[in-house]
Amino acid sequence: MNHNNRVACVMVGLPARGKTYIAQKVCRYLQWVGIQTKVFNVGNYRRQLTGAQTDHSFFDPHNEEASQLRLQCAIEALNDMLRWFKKDHGVVGIYDATNSTASRRRLLRERLEAADIQVMFIESVCDAEDIVLRNIMQVKLNSPDYADGVESETIVNDFRARIEHYEGVYEPVTEDESTFVKMVNVGSKVIINRICGYLQSRVVYYLMNLHIVPRAIFFSRHGESMYNVLGKLGGDSDLSPRGRKYSEALPGLISKHLDGQNLTVWTSTMRRTIQTGQHLPYPKLQWKALDELDAGVCDGLTYEDVEQQYPEDFALRDDDKFNYRYRGGESYRDVVLRLEPVIMELERQHNILIVGHQAILRCIYAYYLNYSHEELPYIKIPLHTVLKLTPRAYGCDVEQYKFDIEAVDTYRANPKRPSSLKRVGAHTPTTSADLRA
Ligand code: ADP
Ligand code: F6P
Ligand code: PEP
Repeated sequence: MNHNNRVACVMVGLPARGKTYIAQKVCRYLQWVGIQTKVFNVGNYRRQLTGAQTDHSFFDPHNEEASQLRLQCAIEALNDMLRWFKKDHGVVGIYDATNSTASRRRLLRERLEAADIQVMFIESVCDAEDIVLRNIMQVKLNSPDYADGVESETIVNDFRARIEHYEGVYEPVTEDESTFVKMVNVGSKVIINRICGYLQSRVVYYLMNLHIVPRAIFFSRHGESMYNVLGKLGGDSDLSPRGRKYSEALPGLISKHLDGQNLTVWTSTMRRTIQTGQHLPYPKLQWKALDELDAGVCDGLTYEDVEQQYPEDFALRDDDKFNYRYRGGESYRDVVLRLEPVIMELERQHNILIVGHQAILRCIYAYYLNYSHEELPYIKIPLHTVLKLTPRAYGCDVEQYKFDIEAVDTYRANPKRPSSLKRVGAHTPTTSADLRA
């Protein structure tokens, strides 16, 4: 990777403006598409240095001693980020702090630009009192900055006092400072300045699609297909009789969990997902990008056939399933890239039901639930089961509804690497339907 392509996204904004949320979303998106990305959160360095619980007086700019400590934390985080760019070949570092003064931002820019790293400020401006209060209620009540058992009212008042300290010294990013993207009141206005290059424009485009309106994303695989019954990969077969029963039962469950709200159904262009969605009384959209992973020369074979006819390929896939590309077909890595526009659109949308395929739903589920590329191809998404994802402040709730309609099990575990798989950092399910292998 050319060094000129490294970017530091430096968050800017008053407390409770969604900086950490945005930092984590951008990080997840870039990691998922395969770009080495990491968040450096200055608050964590502060909690390490001074202990977790500090009241608002610590953030008073007239508190000299605390200001020194805060500067020290900011520099430690910056040094770690610079080391990470150098040693771990980082591509996008996200520096998550308030960075609310021009002098703090100048310090960061000087150090980063000296290391040949582009700086892009991401500023969140929000003067909507109701949003700020909601943010405090959603994330600050459970913040490690406050001990267990402290009254909500005490926390809200202390956090508001913290914000007032920052308001006294806050200087919005100006055009002559650097590249920036400014999001005003959760993206109701987005101002960009001197954005250049692929990475920066990708991040801006992604930010423009984010919203925080509550919604649900439902996932369902198609009902059991004739090929599933035969254990065959790929194809474009019809539903089995049991799959048809599933398609008839699906509308009842979805409407029960929608509470009369609107929904759009996305299917692939394959018969089995279209047939599964046929009784759903909602607008529907077919996406070619949602078609199942292309198994190339192995399309129409069973796993046993593949093992016999292409033993080397079979072993290679077990060795590195995410990167293995079927002859004349696709790898999971290929599928992630073709699903990128689907993720972009999902971020923009409200309630969506995706009727998809095993590999496809694994990729999308992994994006929301922060599974590593190594774990992704082994996520368990059974037939005749609906998953409901509800995005929350820093993660997703997951509920799983299994139908009482039998279906074959299409899951093939990796015989070589049973369950030594690691999770990556940012998003965690807030309730668990742990679908790991
Ligand atoms: P900060 O890091 O600025 O203190 P957080 O990221 O901890 O704030 O706040 C999280 C909350 O911010 C979430 O509840 C999320 O819904 C909300 N949020 C996300 N994006 C924005 C935005 N652009 N403006 C305001 N609030 C946002
Ligand atoms: O078996 C059903 C199926 O959707 C096949 O069409 C596809 O090749 C396969 O699952 C993908 O799963 P895996 O990557 O685990 O083989
Ligand atoms: C923090 O300590 O939580 C923090 C964001 O630090 P600063 O405002 O100094 O960037």
